[in-house]
Amino acid sequence: MKKVLVAYASRTGKTQKMAEFIAEGVRIAGHDAELRKISEFKKPEDLESYDAYVFGCPTYHRDMTAGMKTFLFLAENLNLTGKMGGAFGPYTHSGEAAPMIYDTMEFVYKMDMTDLGALSLKEAIVDTADGTKACQDYGRAVGAKLPS
Ligand SMILES: Cc1cc2nc3c(=O)[nH]c(=O)nc-3n(C[C@H](O)[C@H](O)[C@H](O)COP(=O)(O)O)c2cc1C
Repeated sequence: MKKVLVAYASRTGKTQKMAEFIAEGVRIAGHDAELRKISEFKKPEDLESYDAYVFGCPTYHRDMTAGMKTFLFLAENLNLTGKMGGAFGPYTHSGEAAPMIYDTMEFVYKMDMTDLGALSLKEAIVDTADGTKACQDYGRAVGAKLPS
């Protein structure tokens, strides 16, 4: 069983919901999922000892949140090359955050990202059955790529 970190920032709860469902998907795939807010991570070592990383935040003002940028600079200090990764986030109309996070994980950290790409969900469907399934499927896909 591998350990997957699902770390997120959320102002009004939509990203948190997505994170919870993604963590469920990871567990359905047979792995351990740890759900944490990015604000809990104070130093790079806090991010060590996971086998895969899934990061998420909402899009505000066509950007990722300031907290997510700080968090990504913190993660830069680890060697995440080759580790499995994914990124997600809710949005209403443009949805830049999740693909931006995904790109940083792929091109800067050189992680082995899920083939599904970033999971961007319109916030109106996050709480629906389709939204739940999309998030669970995403978590399952990350889990499925990990050796048991
Ligand atoms: C001030 C403000 C700016 C926003 N800017 C964008 C935006 O540029 N693009 C977009 O797709 N959604 C935008 N949104 C919508 C949020 O991404 C959406 O409400 C999201 O579900 C919030 O996630 P959270 O509940 O995890 O905070 C904005 C929302 C607010 C309140």
